[in-house]
Amino acid sequence: MTTAFNEQSHLAEAIRRLENTSDPRLKEIMEAFSRHMFAFINEVRPSEAEWMQGIEFLTDVGKMCDDVRQEWILFSDAFGVTMLVDYHNHRAHGAETESSVLGPFYREGAPEYAPGETISQDGEGDPVVLAGRVADADGKPIAGARVDIWQTAPNGLYEVQDASQPEFNLRGVFRTDAEGRYLARTVKPVSYPIPDDGPVGKLLGAVGRHPFRPAHIHFIVAADGYEPVVTQLFTDDDAYLDSDAVFGVKNSLVVNYRPDGDGYRVDYDFVLKRAS
Ligand code: DHB
Ligand code: FE
Repeated sequence: MTTAFNEQSHLAEAIRRLENTSDPRLKEIMEAFSRHMFAFINEVRPSEAEWMQGIEFLTDVGKMCDDVRQEWILFSDAFGVTMLVDYHNHRAHGAETESSVLGPFYREGAPEYAPGETISQDGEGDPVVLAGRVADADGKPIAGARVDIWQTAPNGLYEVQDASQPEFNLRGVFRTDAEGRYLARTVKPVSYPIPDDGPVGKLLGAVGRHPFRPAHIHFIVAADGYEPVVTQLFTDDDAYLDSDAVFGVKNSLVVNYRPDGDGYRVDYDFVLKRAS
């Protein structure tokens, strides 16, 4: 080393050490990592104790992970990173349905239901009729589209978190008819805290945030020749709409539960983008 050590020379040297990276995308990512990480340190100037605390936090996040708990995803979700990644990958340009986070509770292989059947296996909760169309951006109906739905039970827990619920309770796949219509029955979802018994929950508490998500139903809507949309519909009178712990709410995804018989009805049309 012949140059003096300072912010500029150190960054230049760190980037020079990447020059043999053969994968150009990895090179781009690691250069950006160096620039932004060093800028972060130059701005924050952590004490050594603070830096150790940071290392310990990241270690605890890793240790919290197992087959069913992914604390890293929770960290990304709770501090807004996941929604930003989603935005850059699925920007809606016009009429297409906006996306939201997949979340940690999706399960493949949910049972297929006929139009009008309910995904509630125990009938607990206020009944809801979910109805609408799946169409393309020109309004042309998409027949045979797949509408995959999942949500919490009235106790605020997904079936995978709650041994007292039947297998695949409140999960189901519906198909649209020749006019692109789907018709599903479920129960009204409730607001629900993201798992907050780990390091991410502790950090949320330290910055004065609550862990709640507004009540929502998850959807993956897919059809041949179209890009699938991963999204959620939120209840319009929910107390947490403006402070969703994972930033998932978009105006176009907020729906009204209209009183209907002994329950509610929600009408919502999905618009898919043609696959490119
Ligand atoms: C997250 C998303 C959910 O839909 C949910 O119910 C809980 C957590 C998440 O993004 O971490
Ligand atoms: Fe959820």
